[in-house]
Amino acid sequence: MGKKVVVTGVPGVGKTTVINGAMERLAAEGVEYTAVNFGTFMFEVAKKENLAADRDEMRKLEKDVQKRLQQAAASGIAAMSGDANVIIDTHSSVKTPAGFLAGLPEWVLRELMPDIVVLVETDPDQILMRRLGDASRTRDMEGHRAIAEHQEFNRAVSAAYAMYTGCTIKIVRNENFLLEQGIDDLVSVLR
Ligand code: AP5
Repeated sequence: MGKKVVVTGVPGVGKTTVINGAMERLAAEGVEYTAVNFGTFMFEVAKKENLAADRDEMRKLEKDVQKRLQQAAASGIAAMSGDANVIIDTHSSVKTPAGFLAGLPEWVLRELMPDIVVLVETDPDQILMRRLGDASRTRDMEGHRAIAEHQEFNRAVSAAYAMYTGCTIKIVRNENFLLEQGIDDLVSVLR
């Protein structure tokens, strides 16, 4: 049975960047992983149903609509992953207008049953600067306190994921100028 590793972090912390670096490193070592983006699975359904014009609009949808898209993504990913080693790029929680929505509620965990949940984190000020520097996305405009609160909530909700599945929780720091260190840390749990 392959490893299922869920990689999470607040928007703009750099989880996709760290995952891509780790995938390159592992490929060079001959360790095979498939990386899938949970938001992309959700967006494919959202686009088909004309619910959102871009992926950043999804977190503003009605809670029950987001939950339905979440369920569709979880079963789609479970169906395609089989016995392979899989990295799932997603969120421990999503900040919606109605409050934090769990990214991995019970019905998602039951489908994915992760071995490890990784939380990619760094200082809120660095995340704020990365969001401001990324014109390709529509980021929520929030200050460093709100980003810190979101990171704290992600740790708290991840404890519940560990209780439900028996997965381990790994915190990977992705600091400015220290991307390689973050990649090393992620690779160490993926090997
Ligand atoms: P998703 O696409 O995952 O959105 P996101 O979190 O905004 O992801 P990004 O890829 O934009 O951010 P990232 O943290 O990966 O940063 P990146 O590597 O690009 O999800 C889209 C939507 O799907 C969500 O909003 C939600 O609605 C929905 N969704 C997903 N999962 C869900 C779930 N489970 N339940 C419900 N809804 C869900 O890097 C950002 C920038 O930082 C880049 O410019 C990069 O160059 C830079 N950078 C990275 N690392 C460093 C470093 N070390 N030093 C300096 N700069 C760095």
